[in-house]
Amino acid sequence: MIVEKHKIINFKENGDNRGKLVVVEGMKDIPFDIKRVFYIYGSDPDVVRGQHANRETEFVLINVSGSSKVRVSDGKNESVFILDKPHTGIYLPKMLWKDMYDFSSDSILLVLASEHYDGSEYIRDFDAFSKETSQHA
Ligand code: TYD
Repeated sequence: MIVEKHKIINFKENGDNRGKLVVVEGMKDIPFDIKRVFYIYGSDPDVVRGQHANRETEFVLINVSGSSKVRVSDGKNESVFILDKPHTGIYLPKMLWKDMYDFSSDSILLVLASEHYDGSEYIRDFDAFSKETSQHA
C-alpha cells in the first residue's frame, strides 16, 4: 500500500447480531506501522486543534464516536473532510498542515501515528510551513 497524498480509507466493518468490529492493522489497512495511539475528546465545538504540520509523522484519524472536521493544506490548496463514521479514517502524510474542529459533544477522535512523540518535529507556524513547502515544490 503506497500512498503519498491524504486519502479517505474505508475499513471493513465486521458485523453480526452481536455488533460491529473494525480492525486497523499497520502496513495492511494503513500504509505504516503504528507506533503511537492517542485520542481526543471533550473539545468544545468552537475549539480548533492541530494547527501544525509534522516533518516525520504520518497519521490516520478516525472518529470512533461522534464527528469532527479536518482541514488539510499543503501550503497552497486546502480540503475539508467530515469524519463521522467509526469505520472510515483519513490518512495524512508527513508535511501536511491540519486543523481539527467542529467537534460534536460525543466526539472521540482516534489518532494512529507512525512515530513516537517528538515535539521538535512539529511545525506550528503556517507561514513558515507554506514557505518551506513552496521551496520544495
Ligand atoms: P497537541 O499537539 O497540542 O494536540 P493537538 O495537536 O491534537 O491539538 O497536544 C496536546 C498536549 O499533549 C501537548 O502538551 C503535547 C502532548 N502530547 C504528548 O505528550 N504526546 C502526544 O503524542 C501528543 C499528540 C501530544
